[in-house]
Parts: sequence; structure tokens; C-alpha cells
Amino acid sequence: MYIKGGNVSLIGEINAPGDKSISHRTVMLGSISEGVTIGDNFLFSEDCINTINCLRNLGVDIKTCDNKVFINGVGLYGLNKPKKELYVGNSGTTIRLLTGILAGQRFQTIITGDKSIEKRPMRRIIDPLSMMGANINSKNNNYPPLTILPVKELNSIIYNQDIASAQVKSAIMFLSLYVNGETKIVQPSKSRDHTERMMKYFGINVIEKDNVVIINSNIKPKGKEVFIPGDMSSAAFFIVGALILKNSHIKIKGVGYNKTRSGIIDVLKEMGGNIEIFNYREVNNEPIVDMEIRSSNLRGIEIKGDLIPRIIDEIPILAVAAACADGKTIIKNAEELRVKESNRINVIVEGLYSMGVGIKELKDGMIIEGKSNFKSGKINTYKDHRIAMSMSIAALMADGVSKIDNISSIKTSYPDFLKVLNELMKY
Ligand code: S3P
Repeated sequence: MYIKGGNVSLIGEINAPGDKSISHRTVMLGSISEGVTIGDNFLFSEDCINTINCLRNLGVDIKTCDNKVFINGVGLYGLNKPKKELYVGNSGTTIRLLTGILAGQRFQTIITGDKSIEKRPMRRIIDPLSMMGANINSKNNNYPPLTILPVKELNSIIYNQDIASAQVKSAIMFLSLYVNGETKIVQPSKSRDHTERMMKYFGINVIEKDNVVIINSNIKPKGKEVFIPGDMSSAAFFIVGALILKNSHIKIKGVGYNKTRSGIIDVLKEMGGNIEIFNYREVNNEPIVDMEIRSSNLRGIEIKGDLIPRIIDEIPILAVAAACADGKTIIKNAEELRVKESNRINVIVEGLYSMGVGIKELKDGMIIEGKSNFKSGKINTYKDHRIAMSMSIAALMADGVSKIDNISSIKTSYPDFLKVLNELMKY
């Protein structure tokens, strides 16, 4: 795809697309609940469609209409042995969370995905689930395909997570619904808590205290109506775009403002970003806001520690913001970026360097020089959706036309991204 940059602003009003993490969880938890679950403002992106297809292959009746999904829940033990391997495509959330559910079933399943998924580490879920009694085989003891075998007995555990990962936490939480007693998870720092919020909303006994989550399996989940908030991770591309492109002014309505996801706003405000938040409200235990963003002079800062899990998916676009800021930005403690859809530390550094940004790779992050003079050119996105969208925004800063490869990956999380971008762009 070609993008023409230089002298362009973002102007207008948009709605953020449904949240990907919450869309996945609605389908999974709705499927193993009793009764009907309706997901409104559902994100029909490739990743979430793969989750729907996996659950359909497990025998769940799921219908879709406009932006809604209707799930006829089968209860904890109502899933059926699939006729074929389950395929998650590019979706790490699907394979990791669903494995937690599958480990509690009385049949064998094989679950796999595309070339990128085959390289994503699964030891992180296999270890805790095995401690709970699950029997999971994997390629080279770490990678998909995963074969999940039925077991006679499962047990509760106390698990000290070494990585702040919501996918690992959620896999344990799903399997905890199939064991007797109390499962306790201790997080090194708090990762996104959508599973906790949704499980409580579905009636499950979940207690949260600081970084500890306790799930008691004594209450079965009941189907609910879920309104899916807008995805902060998708809104982030336009938030940064409006901040860095001159004379921009946009409104984004209905964005999820869960504290475990709003780190990007804290960071951009600290960098001097003009972002106004208003209309705070709550739907099904999740906060939502509207926001207004205007072009700003940003300054570089240091980003590290507990903030990292709160901005983990936004670091590619934050690096673009940092490249426009006055002064250096240092990002540390973000080694998890190396095992996302691509090695994001490597790929961000390569992409922005090729556009003329002064950027240096660190083992666990990067150092970005500000006030870059962006050059147009050819950008390799390594088939990573968040890199493709971040580089599209970066390309708007450069005079001339940039060629961005493999943009079809964008449909894994934000199928309408280019359409919305085109509507907002004013030359
Ligand atoms: C997600 C958790 C995060 C995030 C991913 C979605 C989720 O992954 O990067 O895009 O929905 O639970 P980790 O849990 O591996 O950090």
C-alpha cells in the first residue's frame, strides 16, 4: 500500500472499534456459560472470527448479525469433541485462553495457528495448567500445535506469575472453573483485567486484592448481555496521529478506559499531549469515555516498570510519538515485545531507522531521539498488524510517498483502519 505524507492533518469524529480482548472473552465465556450471551459492538476482525470458529467447531451455536454476536451457551461441560484441529490463525489470545478451557474437557483437542503462532511460546501456559493437572503436549516442549488430553482429576493451585501476562492469567482462570476449591494467582504487576471483570459480571466468584486474583469455582457462569467498549489499542493510532500531525483535532467516542489499558493516555499526557477525557460511564463492569485530541508539542520521557503491561500493545505507536517529541525517550523492561506477533523491538527499530529516525535497540526496549526528519520509503511490517498501522501513521510525517508492505495483517485487529484513516486525513 502507498501512503502520501507531508502537510496532512487528522480532522473529524470517529467511534473506536470494539475491543479485541473483550470480544474474545465474550465468545469464550459466553460459550461455557448457561443461557444466551449477546455481545454488542463486537469486533469482527480476523482474530475474533477465528475465536468464533473455534467455539463453533466445539459445537457451540453462535450467530452473528450486524455488529452483534449471539452465543447459545452450553455450560462448562457442554462442549463437543471437534471433528478437526482447531485453528486460531494469528491469535495468541485465542490459543492461550482457549487452552485453559480445553484442558478441563473430557475429550482430546489439537489446537494450532499460522506461521507466526507456531513461533509463540506456550510454555508459559503449559507450566501452570500442568500444575493444575492438565496434560498438554507441544512442539519442542513449547510451541503449537498443542495437543490437549483429557485427565481424570484437576486441582487448584497458588501460582506466582513470573511475567505480567493477561493471557497466562486468563488461561489459569478459565481452567480454575473446572477444579474444586480456590485458585490464587499472584501477578508481578497488574496486567489487563478484562477476564476478572467479565467473570464477575457473569456471576463467578472472583476476588481481586492488589496484584492477587482468587477464583472460587463454586458458582457457574450465567450468560449475559455484554456491550463491548471501544478498543484503546486501536484508538491509539489516531490519538498519536492527531498529536503529531499539525493542525489536527479529532474526537473519539466510546473508548474503553480500563486502568489496565489506559497507560497510553498517561504516557502521552506526561509527554505534553493535549488529550481531554469526558463522559465517563460504565458498561458491564468496564469504564468507557469519549476523548478529544489536538496537535501538541510532545517531549521525550522515560517509560518503564509497572507501566509496561498497561501499554504493551501501544509501544509501536508510542515509539512513533517519541520520534516526533522534543528530547530523548527511553523505553525499558519491555522484553515481552520480542515474543509478540513479530519481534517488535527489532521491527520498530528497523522500520523507524529506515525512515530517518535516530533509534537504538536495547535488550528490553529502545532509545528514541526526538524531532526526527521523517523520510518516505519502503517499510517492511513483518506481517504484524500493529507495526503496519504504526508505520502508516509514521509515513504521514514524511514528505512524499511511502510503500508499506503486507498491510493485510491489519484485518487481524482493525479491519476498518485504512477507511477511517482516509476519512480523517485532510491535505
Ligand atoms: C492480551 C494480552 C496481552 C496483549 C495481547 C492481548 C489479552 O498479551 O499483548 O494483545 O487479550 O489477554 P500478554 O498477556 O501475552 O501480555
